[in-house]
Amino acid sequence: MKRREFLLASGAATGALTLGGFGLANGTQELTIQPASFALSDTVTTGIVSLSPDAPPPVLYGKQGEAMRLPVRNALPDYTAMHWHGLRIPNGMDGVPYLTQMPMGQGELFDYEFTPPDAGTYWYHPHCMTMEQMAHGLTGVMVIAEPENPGFDSEQVINLRDFRLDEEGAFLPAYTQRGAARAGTFGNVHTANWLQNPVYDHPTGGLVRLRVVNTDTTRIYKLHLEGGNARIIAWDGHPLEIEVPMPSTDDALLVGPGQRVDFAVSMPADEGKTISLMAKLPGQPHKAMAQLRSNGASAARDLQELRPLPVNPIAKPDLANAEVHDFVFGWTPEGIEPNNGFCGSLGYNFWSINRTPWPGDAAQGVGPLATLEMGKSYILRLRNESPNLHPIHLHGLAFVPLRSNLRQLPPLVTDTMLLLKDEVAEIALVADSPGDWAFHCHVIEHQKTGLTGFIRVE
Ligand code: C2O
Ligand code: CU
Ligand code: CU
Repeated sequence: MKRREFLLASGAATGALTLGGFGLANGTQELTIQPASFALSDTVTTGIVSLSPDAPPPVLYGKQGEAMRLPVRNALPDYTAMHWHGLRIPNGMDGVPYLTQMPMGQGELFDYEFTPPDAGTYWYHPHCMTMEQMAHGLTGVMVIAEPENPGFDSEQVINLRDFRLDEEGAFLPAYTQRGAARAGTFGNVHTANWLQNPVYDHPTGGLVRLRVVNTDTTRIYKLHLEGGNARIIAWDGHPLEIEVPMPSTDDALLVGPGQRVDFAVSMPADEGKTISLMAKLPGQPHKAMAQLRSNGASAARDLQELRPLPVNPIAKPDLANAEVHDFVFGWTPEGIEPNNGFCGSLGYNFWSINRTPWPGDAAQGVGPLATLEMGKSYILRLRNESPNLHPIHLHGLAFVPLRSNLRQLPPLVTDTMLLLKDEVAEIALVADSPGDWAFHCHVIEHQKTGLTGFIRVE
């Protein structure tokens, strides 16, 4: 693959960034996990979990290299803990119950404080009562801005996720035994920012940074853009250092749960025209998930004006001296029942890593899948011996795919890799942050029925 050549440096472009959502006052924002209601379909759905009584979890904004403080209060009767997906922050702030903190009971507060080392598109979700709280709404996007304005006219965040609702708009059970043992249980109301096919106005002829995040508990989205010119500029938060072709109708982009893709979009030169983010859902024609509509006088910008995004400070693994560790994702040995701690269990196990199913949310009695030495390079060989796809996610460390028995893997820095059916893939990393880092499938029904473990760096 060629070095990036699609974002050529040119004249400095300035423009006010229109940022929706919440900003951080003095780097601090208090968040309260609480019950909510919202019209996800034609009627108002109750029993939602969010951070305000009547709105989706806000986009949280931070800046690369600047401290953020996010005190999280639990106003639910159930336990919880908040995780910041993809952020390389100290282990104690990672929000994984028993592994990095105790679950938070009703009325309790945990003061999350960290300085994001990387810019990009990240997200947040609970890691205790994960199935219930995520399926009922609590998944939000986190944007870490580059210190220097990369020159867009505007920005649009799209949080893609499904809800499982009946005709009256009430929640259906979030999981099923059948789903948990296979590809997961799918929602039937497809939303972007909790809305069905919302239309967002952006400057005619302007350059929009479109951040798409899959926060669904199950669905692997097949995405493409229709109606305009665009480029992929970042993948799973990190700026691309190689060219990745734009997806098309026949060659859609596979974005698994937990994954993100950033586009630089050139808005149409005429007012009132739209660009659509399209998804292919099984058994349905392509469907618009959200649209960008050109509005106002033409800004007459060009994609060529954008400079490349600065790369994040990710250490490059020393492959010649990297030790190899094997991980097998597959079935659960019979008779190993999950325990049911404060963080919820589905009541059964179907999955395991290296034949060890995670016994519920508590780490008690289960050691690390591997112990890595601080500062050293490693190759992790991931073997999927199941007929299902698994978005495999590692906390706290960034990794880069090396090779696969099935396909050419572009070396894009990530925290979540979609492992295909029967795939054996090798990924490489530098173990450069100490702690116990959760390692699991991001199909939540798999995560909660055994496909979870952790890797220790010391
Ligand atoms: Cu997105 Cu362990 O999480
Ligand atoms: Cu994570
Ligand atoms: Cu899985």
